[in-house]
Amino acid sequence: MAPSRTSQRALLLSATLGLVNAVSLPEPTAAPAKVEVRPPIVTPAAIRFDERYSYVERRDILDDIKSGVGGAIKSLESVIGTALPSFFTDGIPGWFEGLPTGSAVMSSLGINDDDLAAIPTQVLNVPPYANWTDKGWNVRFHGNVYKIPNISQSKIDDLANIFLIDTSVEQLPDEQKANARNLTRSIFVVQQGEENVTVTLEPAPMQGGDGESGGGNSIQATGGNQTIKLPYETTAEGDFDVFVPIQSNGLTNGNETNNVQRLNVHTLGTDSGNATAYLVPSTGITFISDIDDILRVTKIYDPKEGLLNSFARDFTPWMNMPDIYRNWSQTLPNNTHFHYLTTTPEQATRNYMDFIYKTYPGGSFDTRPLNFSDVSATLAIRDYLLRKIFATFPERKFVLVADTSNSDVMKDYPQLAHDFPNQVQCIFLRNTSSTDSSDWFPYNTEGFKGLNNRSYMFFHVPDDLTGLDIANGQCLNESIKQNVTFSRQAEVLGIHGSAGSRVSGGATISFVAALVAAMLLTL
Ligand SMILES: *[C@@H]1O[C@H](CO)[C@@H](O)[C@H](O)[C@H]1NC(C)=O
Ligand SMILES: *[C@@H]1O[C@H](CO)[C@@H](O)[C@H](O)[C@H]1NC(C)=O
Ligand SMILES: *[C@@H]1O[C@H](CO)[C@@H](O)[C@H](O)[C@H]1NC(C)=O
Ligand SMILES: *[C@@H]1O[C@H](CO)[C@@H](O)[C@H](O)[C@H]1NC(C)=O
Ligand SMILES: *[C@@H]1O[C@H](CO)[C@@H](O)[C@H](O)[C@H]1NC(C)=O
Ligand SMILES: *[C@@H]1O[C@H](CO)[C@@H](O)[C@H](O)[C@H]1NC(C)=O
Ligand SMILES: *[C@@H]1O[C@H](CO)[C@@H](O)[C@H](O)[C@H]1NC(C)=O
Ligand SMILES: *[C@@H]1O[C@H](CO)[C@@H](O)[C@H](O)[C@H]1NC(C)=O
Ligand SMILES: *[C@@H]1O[C@H](CO)[C@@H](O)[C@H](O)[C@H]1NC(C)=O
Ligand SMILES: *[C@@H]1O[C@H](CO)[C@@H](O)[C@H](O)[C@H]1NC(C)=O
Ligand SMILES: *[C@@H]1O[C@H](CO)[C@@H](O)[C@H](O)[C@H]1NC(C)=O
Ligand SMILES: *[C@@H]1O[C@H](CO)[C@@H](O)[C@H](O)[C@H]1NC(C)=O
Repeated sequence: MAPSRTSQRALLLSATLGLVNAVSLPEPTAAPAKVEVRPPIVTPAAIRFDERYSYVERRDILDDIKSGVGGAIKSLESVIGTALPSFFTDGIPGWFEGLPTGSAVMSSLGINDDDLAAIPTQVLNVPPYANWTDKGWNVRFHGNVYKIPNISQSKIDDLANIFLIDTSVEQLPDEQKANARNLTRSIFVVQQGEENVTVTLEPAPMQGGDGESGGGNSIQATGGNQTIKLPYETTAEGDFDVFVPIQSNGLTNGNETNNVQRLNVHTLGTDSGNATAYLVPSTGITFISDIDDILRVTKIYDPKEGLLNSFARDFTPWMNMPDIYRNWSQTLPNNTHFHYLTTTPEQATRNYMDFIYKTYPGGSFDTRPLNFSDVSATLAIRDYLLRKIFATFPERKFVLVADTSNSDVMKDYPQLAHDFPNQVQCIFLRNTSSTDSSDWFPYNTEGFKGLNNRSYMFFHVPDDLTGLDIANGQCLNESIKQNVTFSRQAEVLGIHGSAGSRVSGGATISFVAALVAAMLLTL
């Protein structure tokens, strides 16, 4: 007899959990994890702290580094580099990891299939991009099908508290309580595998408003009405991700317009699956932008703050970054397209989209699909999504934007410039530690070796980006001094300059605690 859908999900999930578990107790030479099949239980974390893996016990080492600034890079490499897993030394991992899915949610909350049967199905429809091919417009539909179980508020509060450090939902102001509960409910959803997804398309009106001449200057599509059943059912994790050629039905051919066209996408059977699709001409500039700590204040490198900024507080733009994007959207050629690519898990996507569309130019989106939940896939996800959009638009130029606190960005962005020298127009990286001393994690600029040093810029504040002629390849503001060593850099630790005293034991404890808490959640 074939295993039930639920038990297949349980098996898949247990395998994933085994791998995530391996990270919570990292070994210098990571031995393969033993995969135990057992029902996951969600309990508020008793935070387990293992000093063998913390910076705290190694404060003496940090002191050594601070006092011995000369030759410090070598000592950082040799001491911290070998003693801690690479994600500690190469930058900040997503601590927002290993969220429970499917059957883990059900079993941990005592929900069964009958309880769920009466609950409506919802669809997260991630705003797609489309390329022009000899078969017409080719749209990448992707998203997730799920149900939100009926969980009592007191249970939701217990679950939300897992994500907070030194505080609890009860202690938050009312609007933060609401945010924390909303996100927690969004995380504890039950994904629906083997579902068919059908969408309808219709022309979208031009979006008005400030900063929004429209993901470039997108126009109302002239046609496009149609209904499409996606060719495959959702995966075990409820995901769908597929390119589908759509009918022309009066749309303008991609080789005959210089404008981005928009279509409204609705999902049949629910009003939760609306999105805008962006039909992108074959040439022009696409901005691919990360979100955390570049478009909004997250402080992902300072876990207590990072968790509050993600779970409780309203999202806040980073300085005047919206002005910069608005200006790009209004002044660059009509074929300019914006794509927001964050590796935040799919379950949190609605909050990110809501914030972006209120604050930044419209554009397509990518977040982390659920099958990328084991450790190696987590490190590979950004690269996978970037290469997918590069392959979809081989004649377009890309401007890549993010900040230095992402180790995957620091590796993937320059690697793409090496691999696709004619496609990467500019790389803009916010030098996070220069304006925020709570980011004292090292970042690695090795990947930039051999690239044209006028094709990228490490900048401090959004205004550093004004006045660049990006369309003509000007990526460097000459007044911003670049100090790229093509190796691991850690100014706040004292590798560059004098800021070593900013290293704070408190931050290191809470970082590890947050990581462990996030991991425990999955066990
Ligand atoms: C654009 O492509 C369509 C379909 O491939 C073709 O029929 C049309 O002639 C092309 N238009 C131009 C201006 O090349
Ligand atoms: C959710 O559960 C509560 C308590 O168990 C019940 O009163 C309420 O009617 C349920 N709501 C729905 C929409 O099923
Ligand atoms: C959370 O808030 C968003 C935006 O207001 C809303 O679309 C979504 O349905 C809410 N999610 C839950 C689980 O209540
Ligand atoms: C999905 O559609 C296919 C093809 O029409 C059909 O064979 C299959 O039974 C459908 N699946 C579900 C769960 O309805
Ligand atoms: C497309 O659909 C919209 C509403 O869904 C309708 O108002 C419009 O007339 C349709 N256009 C065509 C060409 O069928
Ligand atoms: C995740 O699923 C997509 C299809 O939805 C597939 O292309 C990709 O290879 C999968 N990735 C992993 C790591 O399994
Ligand atoms: C989705 O679109 C439909 C049709 O325009 C609309 O009735 C519905 O309210 C929309 N849903 C949301 C959540 O905005
Ligand atoms: C850009 O698009 C707008 C709106 O369709 C149009 O009025 C304008 O002429 C276009 N500009 C160029 C340079 O093609
Ligand atoms: C369109 O995108 C698909 C999917 O990435 C890709 O395989 C194809 O080569 C692209 N077509 C063109 C003409 O760029
Ligand atoms: C706005 O963008 C244009 C074109 O990129 C640039 O020339 C101009 O200096 C920018 N202005 C500001 C204030 O950034
Ligand atoms: C980042 O900023 C710090 C502090 O201003 C500076 O020391 C460092 O050299 C900068 N990094 C780069 C790559 O320019
Ligand atoms: C640039 O880097 C060098 C070498 O690491 C360091 O000595 C210097 O203080 C840095 N300069 C600035 C302005 O950060």
